[in-house]
Amino acid sequence: MVTHGFAASLGFWWPGDASWTAVDRWELYIYDITYYKDKLYAVDVHGRVIVCDVNGPNNPTQVLAAVSLLMENWSELLRDLLVEIAKQITSIEDFVSFGAVCSSWYAAATRDNFTPSTQIPWLMLADVEQQNESERWRQFFSLSSGRIFKVILPEASKIRCLSSLGWLLTLGELKANLLHPLSRLQIELPDLNTFQDYDEHENFLLDYVHRMVLSASPAATRDYMVMVTHGFAASLGFWRPGDASWTAVDQWELYIYDINYYKDKLYAVDVHGSVIVCDVNGPNPTQINLVSSPPDGFLPLRNVQLYLLGWLNNTLLVVSRKGVQLTDAGNYGTTTFRVFQLDLRDKKWSEINNLGNRALFLGFNSSFSMETSGMNRCKANCIYFTDDCVDSYRSFPGGGGRDMGVFNISDGSIKPHFDGRSLSLVTPPTWVQPSF
Ligand SMILES: *[C@@H]1O[C@H](CO)[C@@H](O)[C@H](O)[C@H]1NC(C)=O
Ligand SMILES: *[C@@H]1O[C@H](CO)[C@@H](O)[C@H](O)[C@H]1NC(C)=O
Ligand SMILES: *[C@@H]1O[C@H](CO)[C@@H](O)[C@H](O)[C@H]1NC(C)=O
Ligand SMILES: *[C@@H]1O[C@H](CO)[C@@H](O)[C@H](O)[C@H]1NC(C)=O
Ligand SMILES: *[C@@H]1O[C@H](CO)[C@@H](O)[C@H](O)[C@H]1NC(C)=O
Repeated sequence: MVTHGFAASLGFWWPGDASWTAVDRWELYIYDITYYKDKLYAVDVHGRVIVCDVNGPNNPTQVLAAVSLLMENWSELLRDLLVEIAKQITSIEDFVSFGAVCSSWYAAATRDNFTPSTQIPWLMLADVEQQNESERWRQFFSLSSGRIFKVILPEASKIRCLSSLGWLLTLGELKANLLHPLSRLQIELPDLNTFQDYDEHENFLLDYVHRMVLSASPAATRDYMVMVTHGFAASLGFWRPGDASWTAVDQWELYIYDINYYKDKLYAVDVHGSVIVCDVNGPNPTQINLVSSPPDGFLPLRNVQLYLLGWLNNTLLVVSRKGVQLTDAGNYGTTTFRVFQLDLRDKKWSEINNLGNRALFLGFNSSFSMETSGMNRCKANCIYFTDDCVDSYRSFPGGGGRDMGVFNISDGSIKPHFDGRSLSLVTPPTWVQPSF
């Protein structure tokens, strides 16, 4: 099929034809043509799309305006084209913006049409006062574009949220739900009073759950677990789809700072820096075992917060963050981080000063690492942190959100990652790993 002559008229040739066949003259110059679903489409200088049913039983040389001819078929065509476009988008943020344009774009922006790739985390900002109950949104700051965008999310408004693998755990005094911030899918979890120590916490119910980590995304599988620390001692507990109540893990003797899921097991680090494990998929899922305690004096433990992450080559990272507790002068603020590695094979501890091309994300209340190759805005060998020391920020007007930044492990400098002001007593800015 070709366009030809002054008006770029349409024409075609079939094998066996002794001559070219001219399609009826169209009133305007034709810019481009394409063959799609057995028909020849063209666009004219006024941007009108026209169609010629070259395989049709009658009138293969008739040309008609596609929109008026094919009311439904036009939207069908549009949908296919939109899906093709949607599939070219690699950032979830752009994908969400694409879906927000109008209903037919929204219909094309489905999970199946998204091509998965590594996503730079978003910072879910503190909630802001809003009048309209049914339209309440949350704001997300995208590290990759530096933009803030809004997502209608009344389910996460005025409520405490912890995040893992792109999901939020929303926490009322008694109720807990998993919430996907993009699809707004909610998964109801058992009431928190199915933990036996719940009643002892009458006055602290808003802080009853401290940390949460998922073993897998509920969007990808039904075989996942929600693991938390809860209560005064930050004891471990978990829930699996189908369970009517939360399961408490045996009490550990010390307060637990952080948890993470690594190679099918739940690991935790306590205030002495000891790493413990719970084989939640094994025959004794509620039993805790000590993996290893750091040599005396190896980890700084004063005025720190410890984080735990799975790392490369069968090792865990324990990160200590200094400066999180209130000083006598009534201030707090992170001064430095140190990163320690525990090799799970020989139980050897070492300090590391280089994360290669990875970055760590620590804070309220989920920790993870990611590869930074090929990314502009996410820097290698850096720690991106948010404010997560409740005891410190609760004594400040507005709450937490001041102690945030990017720590450069090479030179110990701290720079901001978010320049605005975003404070909350309930849920200060929190990292969210965008996912579907
Ligand atoms: C439009 O689509 C419908 C169903 O897909 C089909 O039956 C019909 O023939 C199409 N019309 C034209 C003009 O292509
Ligand atoms: C709140 O939002 C809903 C949904 O968009 C809208 O119908 C309603 O008019 C809004 N109410 C007010 C008071 O703006
Ligand atoms: C985050 O976790 C730490 C360690 O468990 C805890 O001290 C802090 O209170 C938690 N923050 C919130 C808001 O739950
Ligand atoms: C992991 O092990 C491989 C092979 O032994 C080695 O090349 C690599 O440097 C190790 N990576 C880290 C981060 O230790
Ligand atoms: C971190 O510090 C090192 C040494 O000063 C510097 O070369 C590197 O560019 C810094 N990284 C970032 C992301 O600023």
